[in-house]
Amino acid sequence: MWFKELLIIIVLILGFAAAIYIVYQMYSFVRCGCGKYGPFVSSYGKLKKDILDEARSILKQSKKTLKVTDLGCGSGALLLPLAKEFPQHEFIGWEWDIVPLTMGKIKAFFLGTKNIKFIKHNYMTVSHKDMDLIMCYILKVTGEPLGKKLAGEIKDSAIVISEMFPLGHLEEIKQVQSSLGGVSEKFFVYKKPTKEQTKKESTAKSVKTPKRKTTKSTEKGSTEKKKTSKSTKKVAKTTKAAK
Ligand SMILES: C[S@@+](CC[C@H](N)C(=O)[O-])C[C@H]1O[C@@H](n2cnc3c(N)ncnc32)[C@H](O)[C@@H]1O
Repeated sequence: MWFKELLIIIVLILGFAAAIYIVYQMYSFVRCGCGKYGPFVSSYGKLKKDILDEARSILKQSKKTLKVTDLGCGSGALLLPLAKEFPQHEFIGWEWDIVPLTMGKIKAFFLGTKNIKFIKHNYMTVSHKDMDLIMCYILKVTGEPLGKKLAGEIKDSAIVISEMFPLGHLEEIKQVQSSLGGVSEKFFVYKKPTKEQTKKESTAKSVKTPKRKTTKSTEKGSTEKKKTSKSTKKVAKTTKAAK
């Protein structure tokens, strides 16, 4: 008899947990602009290890205090081990979802890491100009706007590591082949583009885009010409009539 009751309690608890999970996923999807930004998925496996190794190689070399950030830090899967290992450097995690953010804060408390800050904010609306190492694990669609933002504001010496998805506008230093659950995946390492590169890119764009504009404006121009000649004829007719 008690076995049946225990089973009912277990089923109820699991059902409740599943309901909370579904509600959280829906909240997370809406919170992330319905597919505009990536929801919370923690870095793991070989890809995470390889990214941490890449970050370590940068942090080890520097004698001065470096500022490291993770844009959309989740529960701190990348930042926390680094903050623990490099107490001389400063770590900032930007995260707008309260659930992983709180998990990160709790983990930091138990790890005793004092050199890490978790901030609840949209990373697209703050400046990252003082950062020396920037990490991110975004969606493919975010690669273009985020790359553009970073290219315009980061230091010449800053390094950007993007997990899985490429960023636009920055200068690629390398792509590192790794794997995740047996599937081949990579991460990308970037730096700020030189002024010449940015100029080249914008020139290439302006050469491409105006074609349409020119055609449109020519069309507009010709319509205006037609309009003008029509109205000139009208004026001529009216003048004749008046005579
Ligand atoms: C794929 S997870 C990566 C988590 C963490 N970087 C890691 O590697 O474990 C992306 C995280 O970014 C957060 N996020 C997405 N867009 C954001 C934005 N514009 N501002 C702040 N956080 C954002 C999501 O809530 C999610 O937790």
